[in-house]
Amino acid sequence: MNDCQHILENLSATVIVLDPNLRVRSVNPAGEMLFQISARQILGQLAADLLPHNASLIRQFGEALQSGHPFTEHGLRVTLADGRDITVDCAVTPVAVNADSELLVEWTPVDRLLRIAREEKMLDQHATSRALIRGLAHEIKNPLGGLRGAAQLLERRLPDAELAEYTRIIIREADRLRGLVDRMIGPNVPLNKRPTNIHQIFEHVRSLVLAEIPEGISVRRDYDPSLPEFPADLDQLIQAILNITRNATQALDGKGAVWLRSRVERQVTIGQKHHRLAVRAEIEDNGPGVPDEIREHIFYPMITGRADGTGLGLSIAQDIIHQHGGMIECVSRPLQTIFRIYLPMEDGNG
Ligand SMILES: Nc1ncnc2c1ncn2[C@@H]1O[C@H](COP(=O)(O)OP(=O)(O)OP(=O)(O)O)[C@@H](O)[C@H]1O
Ligand SMILES: [Mg+2]
Repeated sequence: MNDCQHILENLSATVIVLDPNLRVRSVNPAGEMLFQISARQILGQLAADLLPHNASLIRQFGEALQSGHPFTEHGLRVTLADGRDITVDCAVTPVAVNADSELLVEWTPVDRLLRIAREEKMLDQHATSRALIRGLAHEIKNPLGGLRGAAQLLERRLPDAELAEYTRIIIREADRLRGLVDRMIGPNVPLNKRPTNIHQIFEHVRSLVLAEIPEGISVRRDYDPSLPEFPADLDQLIQAILNITRNATQALDGKGAVWLRSRVERQVTIGQKHHRLAVRAEIEDNGPGVPDEIREHIFYPMITGRADGTGLGLSIAQDIIHQHGGMIECVSRPLQTIFRIYLPMEDGNG
């Protein structure tokens, strides 16, 4: 019995036992975590109160209890009392105990797996499009050098000095294009990781953006000072966080606030890798939010909602964060846009 209890307590699946009146008879710790209440509070509660938005599931529980027939459902969407939606694989088994019968309900969460699969697909797509852009950029860069050199030679031989105005346009535009192409190729150097403090990065970015924004915008700090150092390439992470913070100040259009926030996050899964501790760095603004029509695609290169944007800032930022073994996500609605970055505390290569 003790062994069984031990197994039950360490299961990652939620196990609930319901009595013949569909009241909770017992719940394991995974279930307490899921419902975010203690076993003491949950015991004796009606299943219908625990899951007020799932009448048909409760009906199925009742039928299983009466008929004695078990049932299973894969990918079942359940809405919890606090409004959270989860997806579970559900197995329900009626069990006869003496003259009594009870219902054993097992839920295996699949959200995490779905999320991981989705993230991997997204990262894969982004890696492909960035490789494509990089390839294209290299192809543009080569003839650009020739074009610029030829314009310089031509300028020296022009019979009429006034014509130099045209060769200068060629040279200037070639330089501008080269700058763009360099950004498209992005920081293509290996990471130089050293113990780094997230606040050092935030402070550097803050001083850079403060120098370029109007007075109506404030950049506020919300730091967890206890955050330890983590292995990172300081310059590249400054670039990534600068791109995101600059977007926030640009979205504010002269008025509003940006928050730079740091927290510790425990038990984070990024891609397939599980991390005990991670840094959570957030850049939040109270601007209008990411335009609906590009929301799903903002991390792709060349996607922009600004007339003078190149659409490279976020794609570069994501690339850098990904190289650090981290992850970035965005939640946005009018008056609140948050770019949330997770960076593993232990070395991603280890
Ligand atoms: N904080 C934000 N609030 C609202 N929209 C945002 C925010 N951050 C990004 N966006 C939207 O996402 C788009 C893509 O951003 P990204 O940084 O990749 O490119 P960009 O800013 O347009 O150009 P670049 O950074 O290359 O100069 C932006 O054009 C903007 O429409
Ligand atoms: Mg940008």
